[in-house]
Amino acid sequence: MEMINLKDLAIKVEEIPILPDRINKIIEITENPDSDIKDLEDEILKDQSITSKILKLANSTYYGYAKRICTISEAIVLLGSQTIKSLVLTSAVSKLLINELPGGYHLGKYDLWNQSQSCAMISKFIALKIHYPSPEEAYIAGLLRDIGKPILNFYVSQEYNSILNKIENESKTFIQAEEEVLGFTHAQIGSMVAEKWNFPTPLVESIQYHHSPEKAQSNQKLVSIVHIADAVTMMMGIGLGSDGLSYNFSNFAFKTLGIEEDVIEEILFEVTNRLENNNDFSILN
Ligand SMILES: [Fe+2]
Repeated sequence: MEMINLKDLAIKVEEIPILPDRINKIIEITENPDSDIKDLEDEILKDQSITSKILKLANSTYYGYAKRICTISEAIVLLGSQTIKSLVLTSAVSKLLINELPGGYHLGKYDLWNQSQSCAMISKFIALKIHYPSPEEAYIAGLLRDIGKPILNFYVSQEYNSILNKIENESKTFIQAEEEVLGFTHAQIGSMVAEKWNFPTPLVESIQYHHSPEKAQSNQKLVSIVHIADAVTMMMGIGLGSDGLSYNFSNFAFKTLGIEEDVIEEILFEVTNRLENNNDFSILN
């Protein structure tokens, strides 16, 4: 059994493509209270694919609106800059999350993607419920929490039997087994990617500590939201994969958010309802 060499991992993280400058620029503008619609529009218009995605979303969301929405500035006003930010980021990271992760995590094509979108939606739901100031931030944090898995998958598959053994015979959680066998968790690797992408600190932390929310320092609420959303997602068995059943809910997270455990039932009910009614995880749900 061999621990992962930190250097090898750093190389793997290095291989992850950086987010295009334009994406970072758009995120920056949506986070700057002094920027205006014109700044955002100018940046979006430089990218044809993002432009058409935004118009498509605006027109399908405001179906039945008196006229078709033809300009980005109109779309920004209707959708709001936070939704634009989610859309841009979602389309940028989707490439990394849709691939199949066989062997280690046993995730088929789109499994991690569906799981991530479910976690994002549940995060936003919890955020709205507890009146968290930025439900979109919670959405993004939920979407990205397992971004380390595509990188760690290779190592997990190499040591799969040892990991499984720890879970089955030593009743470890998947994340404990990952750490004990590999010396690293997908959460740690994920935060390295987030740092590489220059994400804001609370977002890096929510990825790093989504399985151990009590360790968070900058935004314990955000991390707790993602933690509970992640555990609920796993419980629902959406694209479960090999680590689906060996996670725990943290009491710290419930306490931090001021909610009781019975909220899980409410979330499950609400999410299942939405899934049945429209069968997709649109970012506006
Ligand atoms: Fe995770």
